[in-house]
Amino acid sequence: MKKIAILTSGGDAPGMNAAIRAVVRTALKNDIEVIGINMGYEGLINGDFHPMDRRAVSDIIQKGGTILKTARCPEFKDPVVREKAAQVLRIYGIEGLIVIGGDGSFMGAKGLSDLGIKTIGLPGTIDNDLAYTDYTIGFDTAQNTITDAINKLRDTSSSHQRVSVVEVMGRNCGDLALYAGLAGGATTILVPEKKMTKEEAIREVMEGRKMKKNHNLVVVAEGVGGARELAQDIEELTGIEARATVLGHIQRGGVPTAFDRILAARMGHRAVELLMEGKSARVVGIKANKIIDMDIYEALAMERTFDEELYKIAMDMS
Ligand code: F6P
Repeated sequence: MKKIAILTSGGDAPGMNAAIRAVVRTALKNDIEVIGINMGYEGLINGDFHPMDRRAVSDIIQKGGTILKTARCPEFKDPVVREKAAQVLRIYGIEGLIVIGGDGSFMGAKGLSDLGIKTIGLPGTIDNDLAYTDYTIGFDTAQNTITDAINKLRDTSSSHQRVSVVEVMGRNCGDLALYAGLAGGATTILVPEKKMTKEEAIREVMEGRKMKKNHNLVVVAEGVGGARELAQDIEELTGIEARATVLGHIQRGGVPTAFDRILAARMGHRAVELLMEGKSARVVGIKANKIIDMDIYEALAMERTFDEELYKIAMDMS
């Protein structure tokens, strides 16, 4: 393997830069040239390429976002577009491609591997919604950002004796809500994986008030949604003042935690090794603190299992 390329795709995640750095430094150490592709698959189709040397990844390990920029690229689902992208890679003599992103980005990588381009996927998304890996790059930072926001909301809601309803990201996956809810001492946590009615959530709040809780914190995953309506209903039905906060994209930015940087370094390093071993259509993950790799088709077909044990712990704590 003489020349590889790297791109970031889908929603950015803290730690993506640390992963880019790991890929570039590992490749260069092994005399492999690295091409950075800007703006994900969009940049790939348009040939938005630039060579990356050691200095191209200096001083980025601590930076959130992605220096390669990113985009969602629905056109990449079209086989004609994918063929064009594969052709561009062939023209530039690029033998392997490392894609950092979520499941949508992996679908694109899978499509390219079917066309003979060696591809490796690294899980980069704050959602932690990929079944084959215990953690995705960015999840740890995002849960810490949310926990920090919850700490701040606690100050004001306990001063006013209010209920604070916090909506966090996670379209189909409640992990951010669950982990940050547990870390932040939530009264109740609403996630898409567990059906909880509005009435049940309100009952939890009322129970909390009976137990002389100064304030109540309700964490709602984006996949459940409706934080503002829930706050209104709580206020109407219980008479306790309630406020909603939708954290939004603040959760996606910020300095990556040490955990995310180390995860990114381990995964990025392994991705290059896999390409050097001639592997393709693999995704890198972590299971029981061991870096693993898996067939991309298998990984995408896996169904996520919700952490019932952690959910029970969180609920028992409330
Ligand atoms: O995929 C990560 C994610 O942050 C989701 O949690 C969220 O639903 C989505 O991206 C938001 O995407 P966008 O930035 O394109 O609005």
